[in-house]
Amino acid sequence: MRILAVDTSCDDSCAAILDTQSWKLLAESVYSHTAPMKKFGGIVPEIASREHLKALPLAVEDCLKQSGLNLEDIDWFAVTNRPGLIGALLVGVSYIKALAFAVQKPFSVFNHIEAHLFTPLLATLEGKESPAFPWTALVVSGGHTELFHVKNTLDFQWLGGTVDDAAGEAFDKVGKLLELPYPAGPLIDRWAREKATEEDRKIPFPRSKIEGLQFSFSGLKTAVALKIQKTDLSQETEKLAILASAQEAIVDTLIEKTRKAALETKSSQIVVTGGVACNSRLREKLHEAHFPAPKHCTDNAAMVALLAGLYAKEGKLQPSLWTATAHSTGEF
Ligand code: KG4
Ligand code: ZN
Repeated sequence: MRILAVDTSCDDSCAAILDTQSWKLLAESVYSHTAPMKKFGGIVPEIASREHLKALPLAVEDCLKQSGLNLEDIDWFAVTNRPGLIGALLVGVSYIKALAFAVQKPFSVFNHIEAHLFTPLLATLEGKESPAFPWTALVVSGGHTELFHVKNTLDFQWLGGTVDDAAGEAFDKVGKLLELPYPAGPLIDRWAREKATEEDRKIPFPRSKIEGLQFSFSGLKTAVALKIQKTDLSQETEKLAILASAQEAIVDTLIEKTRKAALETKSSQIVVTGGVACNSRLREKLHEAHFPAPKHCTDNAAMVALLAGLYAKEGKLQPSLWTATAHSTGEF
């Protein structure tokens, strides 16, 4: 079976095609909307929706070209319908519904976080080993910071998450305070890696003491804002010390809670995914963890195609309904 999947949950228009028989990814494509968001210093939901209208058909076309397939060769369509920016999700769901209707094939809707959760299994599409279950999975992006106990394929339990900002949001907000362009996460990572010394990382920004397996990053944002009031940002060394120390506080917090979760659930593996999983300091300090390839940590549709493929393998792939009643019964 050939599955065409798309993801439009945030500001990336993503498409991918999976062949479940050969268990191979035939194509993938991502169009990021970071350029139009730069002048606003963050994501504007309405602009993301309009960008998806332009870029999603291009991403799907790319995938058909890469795989040498026509739309009629697709057997099943998949799309994420939650969680995310509602207007952006609506573009993806409407688009997939239209494609599926045009070629009279079924489609199914999926949870974006569940798709992130199983990205380590993308390795199996390249004939490689994936980490052994059970895992403790940290899904850490611009919109989410959540811990899960992943017992087996499609079998998982939520353990805890952020009560305020997501870790990626904390990176981006610290960057904004330091007058860095959006998204600041990758820039902070690069500057800290290339220019910061041990000494630069030593500003004692707070590590939240919130209980259990919860996270909180709003206190860090305030601490950085207060520090900046007393700092001459025209001095690059001062700026560098703030960003490197803020990164250290975020990374340490993520690591402490993730290791605690792994210990409590007796997991044999830690898996980290989502955009912040690209962070090199996190990769270095949480050295025992499995990190998927960076292009599959950030938003992508390969993970959605894979999730649909896993549902198919387990005999759990259910078609969604065409009719308007699907909306009123809460399916979307
Ligand atoms: O998963 P993602 O592409 O989109 C969603 O938010 O769903 O994650 C984007 C987030 C942004 O906040 C970005 O600043 C952060 O991930 N990010 C990073 C790095 N690469 C992306 N944060 C820290 N270090 C990085 N290398
Ligand atoms: Zn995501």
